[in-house]
Amino acid sequence: MKKNLMNVKAVFLALLFVSQISNAQKNFVVDVKNPKAEIQPTMYGIFFEDINFAADGGIYAELVKNRSFEFLYPLMGWKEPNSNRHSLNLKSGRAIPITKSGNVSNKHYIRIDVNDASGYSIINEGFRGIGIKESAKYDLSFMANVASNIKHVKFEIIDEKNNPIASNSVAVIGNNWETYKTTLTASKTCAKAKLKITFDTSGTINMDMISMFPEDTWMGRKKGLRKDLVQLLADLHPGFLRFPGGCIVEGRVLERRYQWKKTVGSIENRQGLVNRWNTEFSHRSTPDYFQSFGLGFFEYFQLSEDIGAEPLPILNCGMACQYNTGELVPINEIAPYVQDALDLIEFANGNVSSKWGKVRAEMGHPKPFNLKYIGIGNEQWGKDYFDRYVIFEKAIKEKYPEIKIVSGSGPSPDGEYFDYGWKQLKKLKADLVDEHYYRSPEWFKENATRYDNYDRNAPKVFAGEYAAHNKAKSAAMTKNTLECALAEAAFMTGMERNADVVYMTSYAPLLAHVDAWQWAPDLIWFDNLNAVPTANYYVQKMFANNAGTNVLSTTCNKQNITGQDGLYASTVMDKATSEIIIKIVNTENKAQRINVDLKGAKKVNEDVNITVLHADDLNAVNTLKIPTTVVPQQLSVKAKKKGFCVEIQGNSFYVCRVKVN
Ligand code: AHR
Repeated sequence: MKKNLMNVKAVFLALLFVSQISNAQKNFVVDVKNPKAEIQPTMYGIFFEDINFAADGGIYAELVKNRSFEFLYPLMGWKEPNSNRHSLNLKSGRAIPITKSGNVSNKHYIRIDVNDASGYSIINEGFRGIGIKESAKYDLSFMANVASNIKHVKFEIIDEKNNPIASNSVAVIGNNWETYKTTLTASKTCAKAKLKITFDTSGTINMDMISMFPEDTWMGRKKGLRKDLVQLLADLHPGFLRFPGGCIVEGRVLERRYQWKKTVGSIENRQGLVNRWNTEFSHRSTPDYFQSFGLGFFEYFQLSEDIGAEPLPILNCGMACQYNTGELVPINEIAPYVQDALDLIEFANGNVSSKWGKVRAEMGHPKPFNLKYIGIGNEQWGKDYFDRYVIFEKAIKEKYPEIKIVSGSGPSPDGEYFDYGWKQLKKLKADLVDEHYYRSPEWFKENATRYDNYDRNAPKVFAGEYAAHNKAKSAAMTKNTLECALAEAAFMTGMERNADVVYMTSYAPLLAHVDAWQWAPDLIWFDNLNAVPTANYYVQKMFANNAGTNVLSTTCNKQNITGQDGLYASTVMDKATSEIIIKIVNTENKAQRINVDLKGAKKVNEDVNITVLHADDLNAVNTLKIPTTVVPQQLSVKAKKKGFCVEIQGNSFYVCRVKVN
């Protein structure tokens, strides 16, 4: 009993001690009178790559998988429950893929022989099902020519139990290819619906480009993008939009690299490609992952414009992914790759009378997209890269001296290749150097000072891909925990403090389908109906929505705040609104009281508006089922004459905005 009482006393004293430490107030001094580096408008941007079903099955709102039968197995994604393909005795029907002759991009269509209309159907499974919303309208279109008899094609959206929840019949006529359209209205919401096609009578019909989109897309564009996902991107107020990746730029072999010219013009003529991520990871194999390029380079430029982001296309530099084959194009055969880069600039910016400017105008955008940046190579390293990079650089700078070029420093934030890359790029006086880091939360916190000692006269930094990966079974299999988000926030205070060096930053990857992903963590998760922003998304949003215009020095005991007692901080001012914006990350599990002294401010004249991201549990994650475990909350505190006091909860990120005279 006595021993127990002593234990209780010891615990009590320990708690008292801890609470005293936590309550010891810290004084942060913000030097309001001496604005430092300008924050580039491009500082906080977006990295988009078609990984995790981000494009087809994701932001590109097409609901039919393999609409034009161009997958390696032309009937992948389609089922014929009663086909007589393997039984001559069955009186039903079957679909046969037919290959067109000649050099066409959309090579296949299907011929459907219906022997008994009552017994035959062909069904598309969608991208892990089709997301359908009650009362919503769906635009269905297809190409067909009738070889014999068939007069009506019936389309039904069926639910998980195969009950129809929308249906419509379309009259078809003639043996010339025609495009037909109809609209289906759903009577019920269903996350994993399917599209079923049946015929009025026996006969033969050829079909291609069987497509269905929600009518309600981003900006109401026909065959457009998924509204909820684009809205989440727009809400970030991104400074730039990097596209199309990522390793997808490179391809596992050069033949399967991303080629922008194959992604523009009418969608029927865009030649699809197997997605390089389909079987990259055996633990998350998705053999049915293809690129239709319905979200191609025109749609990309348009999206950038819609959300106010500078487009930043990344192009192949004549090298396949060095994690795969590392295949190289010989230097004396690199001209077409360089021409692709020059032509892309013309496609974006050229006069409507130029070859590629005309293509853009014909696609509906005569005005230039005002492209200012281009990336050469993704995650390349070593001499082979620089042998090729200099050829691109010369050609681009000669023709378009105003375009800023992003160059790579390899896949790691340090080491032999990284050092070699930076050495070359300093010699070349490169514009922007792309750095990538997928590291532990500890690394991110320790590296909050990473840019403090970077050479101020060297090329500027584009932190083009980063994400904290916590301990997990294997790489790219980790969760979007609050711990990771806070570590990224801590690191970002270091990027912000060094805005004279760091010009662009983007978390990666961006999007992931919960049933079809290959790589985790990711910024936004979604299923066929809904999306959930992660804690990491909110960190990005809190930085990007509070970017400000100039850095202000912020110190505690005359030191930058870079992890003392688990605290990290950076401050910017917004010249346009006369606001001071202080970002404070508390990675410790205890509340800490901070006095913010706005040194040099004449008068602080309003309440301090504070956005807080917090959860008690560092392992907290947002899920589609419970999306609000870690979401920003608003509060305000009264400002004092020249500053304010705020108690920062443990495990939290605070953004405090205050107006000054
Ligand atoms: O973001 C996922 C991948 O990580 C990118 O495609 C690649 O550039 C990096 O290795």
